[in-house]
Amino acid sequence: MTDLNGLAVYIETFGCQMNENDSERIAGLLAAAGARLADRPEESQVTIVNTCAVRAKSEEKLFSYLGRLRSLKKKTGLVVVLAGCVAQLRRDKILDRNPDVDFILGPDNYHRLPELLERRLGQPRVLTAWSKEWREDDRRHCLRRSPVSAFVTVMEGCDNFCAYCIVPFTRGREKFRPLRAVLDEVRTLAGEGYKEIQFLGQNVNSYRDPATGAVFRDLLTAADEIEGIEWIRFITSHPKNFNDDMAEAMARSSHVCRQIHLPLQSGSSAVLERMKRGYSRESYLEKIRGLRSLMPEICLSTDIIVGFPGETESEFSETLAALRDIRYANIFSFRYSPRPGTSAAKLTDDVPFEVKRRRLMEVQQTQKAIQTGIHEGFIGRTIRVLCQGKSKKDGRVYSGRSEGYQVVNFRSETDVIGRFVQVRITSSGPYSLRGELSGIP
Ligand code: 5AD
Ligand code: SF4
Repeated sequence: MTDLNGLAVYIETFGCQMNENDSERIAGLLAAAGARLADRPEESQVTIVNTCAVRAKSEEKLFSYLGRLRSLKKKTGLVVVLAGCVAQLRRDKILDRNPDVDFILGPDNYHRLPELLERRLGQPRVLTAWSKEWREDDRRHCLRRSPVSAFVTVMEGCDNFCAYCIVPFTRGREKFRPLRAVLDEVRTLAGEGYKEIQFLGQNVNSYRDPATGAVFRDLLTAADEIEGIEWIRFITSHPKNFNDDMAEAMARSSHVCRQIHLPLQSGSSAVLERMKRGYSRESYLEKIRGLRSLMPEICLSTDIIVGFPGETESEFSETLAALRDIRYANIFSFRYSPRPGTSAAKLTDDVPFEVKRRRLMEVQQTQKAIQTGIHEGFIGRTIRVLCQGKSKKDGRVYSGRSEGYQVVNFRSETDVIGRFVQVRITSSGPYSLRGELSGIP
């Protein structure tokens, strides 16, 4: 039995929700082995950096963070562990540039951490082996950041190889978690008082239970019956794999939120083809029409990349037109960034930086106007909100999410964290809604 004997560990997380959930699992694993979680690297003996490689910028952020840790290490002898996608991707090369990193662990190797830290093993320093099958660790030890909304990973990895994307190289091929284990975890969370779960996977729509062959809509339907879980969400769905059966399962369910993240990436069919996305603008729009005819109130969000190799001005304008047609409730937008080893990295990155910057600004301004309009339409309405916590700026202001995943801020005299409340919307901005508490059912 490993005993870390009060070892102070700090975990810094970069990147997506999958990384956040991995950090929660690492925290749980280490705490169960006797570690103590620190709030800052300065208070820790071991700092674990969970890294993201999706864009060059995320890697740059990491290297400047490592610079900060280097001076700390000189003073205190801090042990530095690099986990996650950059660890997997760069492996030994990190040690050339950052020799003071002590351990490098890819996403399939976190279960080795307690043992590594206990023995302070000098070797092996780099653990990036893949396991081909799902490794079910004991999720009872997952230390979640939120007491209200829980991430539940259902699959990991990706087989899609979109031309720009590093994920298949950092997370490997698709691996599916057993349905039984997923549902057990959801039941446990319901018992602990969680109200919302968010199923996670790089492409949840390709989920298949290894034992029974049950698909993602079966999982949703089964989770829908678990008492206590009021809201169910999932990220991310690949539009190519999102079909009518899924939309119908959502519409039939009582607890699956009328909200979906469906990354479009580009509004031009030609660019989508070069991106190897496996759908066209028309087939994407058809899916949105289908979803809206079944669930008129559904809120959509998306990811957009501008400046993919060869993107012309007229191809870019199709992206702006798609945003105006679809009217997403929220978007995440990025400048294309070539990633080593991907098929797009072989294309000339020919859209100048200034053009990418201007296109990104246009996307964001277009979307800002759309969101402002959508949010103004909420003024005067009373909506159901799940309170997630207090506002960072004002201790009397609480913050929650609507079913459509909009941020809603409101004042309350009593602590309503973890509860569903009714909020009458009184004002709005492009990124959030504000209102008055009108009821606590
Ligand atoms: N350049 C820019 N954006 C990227 N994304 C993924 N890879 C890249 C890249 N090389 C974006 C996509 C994806 C989101 C998670 O990050 O929009 O959906
Ligand atoms: Fe990357 Fe495409 Fe897989 Fe999403 S579906 S993780 S964008 S390769």
